[in-house]
Amino acid sequence: MSQNAILVAVEGPQAEEWIGLLRARAGRREVRVWPDSIGDKADIAFAAVWRPPLGLLASLPNLKAIINIGAGVDALLADRSLPDVPVARAAHPDLTRRVVGYVVLHVLAYHNRMRLYQAQQRERRWEAQQHPSSDDVNVGIMGLGVIGGEAAHVLARLGFRVAGWSRTRKSLPGIETFHGAGGLDPFLARSEILVCLLPSTPETNGLLNLALFRKLKRDGAAGGAFVINAARGRLQVDADIVAALNEGALAAATLDVFPHEPLPQASPLWTHPKVTVTPHVAGDISPAAFTDHIIEQIEGFERGQPMAATIDRRQGY
Ligand code: NAP
Ligand code: GLV
Repeated sequence: MSQNAILVAVEGPQAEEWIGLLRARAGRREVRVWPDSIGDKADIAFAAVWRPPLGLLASLPNLKAIINIGAGVDALLADRSLPDVPVARAAHPDLTRRVVGYVVLHVLAYHNRMRLYQAQQRERRWEAQQHPSSDDVNVGIMGLGVIGGEAAHVLARLGFRVAGWSRTRKSLPGIETFHGAGGLDPFLARSEILVCLLPSTPETNGLLNLALFRKLKRDGAAGGAFVINAARGRLQVDADIVAALNEGALAAATLDVFPHEPLPQASPLWTHPKVTVTPHVAGDISPAAFTDHIIEQIEGFERGQPMAATIDRRQGY
């Protein structure tokens, strides 16, 4: 009989690593694994999960808290039976650095005309292009949270004119900020490279659509309007991205996430000459970096401290 056991529910290539590290660092606490060794569900007090099956968490009668092994909690909140216990999400420097690195890589790729040079290389063509100064280029970041705020800061350090858009009013040094429905259009009108770092919620799903792309600034130094979605696929309308690229509202798109993952073989995004596809890898948090944090969260919770980065269920993130 073990009380206060931790259940791990993670699938995929890193599952064994998560289980091994949690077992190594959990001390005397028992680590149970879904689906193979869940044991008596009454023993489980904590669950460390990534996209667990619907209903699993509701089946744990003594669950005290949930730790999401990722920043986005949309998959958890899609479970209508989710028990009413605190949910902490991943807000960790390792994850932030990874996603910010992804965003900076692709902003710089557009800024430095990398797609063009890759095409030129295939033709053995030696031809320098004009590159604007970064302080002539307007980057707009949707979502100024843990990751968006840091991305804004790093891009501003690189000299870009950075603005951000959030739900509530924000003040960040060196960043022009917009918020709420009323702030969206002026934010879009000044943004050439649009970076999406919003959570997927009923308010944000479908936001990256043709009408929005048409509002971006196209006549600036960046040489057109670009979109980088490193957040969630449900934020974007794939057909609208293709339409916006084909009509010129967008010059190119970098997409890490899609409404249906894996991206279906038949999707035109795979082969569109102006699209970069990555398989939802912008921020795969490292098990080695996050395991200690999970254990610290649990130990703090048992001492009566609130867990860090708990979500607001009403807001959906
Ligand atoms: P966060 O700290 O919760 O920040 C979310 C930001 O979005 C906040 O600034 C929030 O505004 C804003 N926001 C939420 N709803 C909004 C709305 N309706 N209108 C305008 N702004 C809104 O989240 P995070 O840790 O930065 O992560 C952001 C998202 O990135 C996650 O939810 C996840 O889906 C995604 N992600 C993807 C990957 C990947 O591998 N592709 C990796 C990590 C994260 P307020 O500041 O006013 O609350
Ligand atoms: C990854 O997609 C995350 O939400 O952390």
